[in-house]
Amino acid sequence: MNTAQDIIEHLELIPHPEGGFYKETFRSEGSISKSELGEDYSGERSYSSAIYFLLTSDSFSAFHRIKQDEFWHHYDGAAINVHVIDSNGIYSCTRVGKGFKNGEVPQFVVKGGSWFASEVSDNSPFSLVGCTVSPGFDFNDFELAKRPVLIETYPEHLDVILRLTR
Ligand code: GUN
Repeated sequence: MNTAQDIIEHLELIPHPEGGFYKETFRSEGSISKSELGEDYSGERSYSSAIYFLLTSDSFSAFHRIKQDEFWHHYDGAAINVHVIDSNGIYSCTRVGKGFKNGEVPQFVVKGGSWFASEVSDNSPFSLVGCTVSPGFDFNDFELAKRPVLIETYPEHLDVILRLTR
């Protein structure tokens, strides 16, 4: 069975600023112009892009948001718990994995503009997933949450914000 270290080495993953390890696996050659994308985007973007994302149980992916809808696909290891605070302030946690009897789903979409964070389920060693976005990912569309601001905006979700921000 693969360990997290085997996967990091084999897939040549690098540390991600939100926590965990990743590698971009695909980026469309075509792009969408800023005028077609509209006010939300600061410049042109690729049609789409995809990454591998590996999270280990000694870390977490901190609350952040991006403009695009993001499709998650489970590949290996334990289920990953994806915590979402949507644009209406509603909190949910989805187990992305293949343990269907535990209510896990192999594919999940985080809607653009939602705050989200993730952690490996059940103290397991790691989760490996794929994350695909369209328009393609750009760090200009990525915002790491500021803990005090998130708490002030969503005091009802204090516990999960304290646990999954730095
Ligand atoms: N490329 C670099 N970081 C990310 C990310 O967090 N999500 C996606 N989909 N692509 C990325």
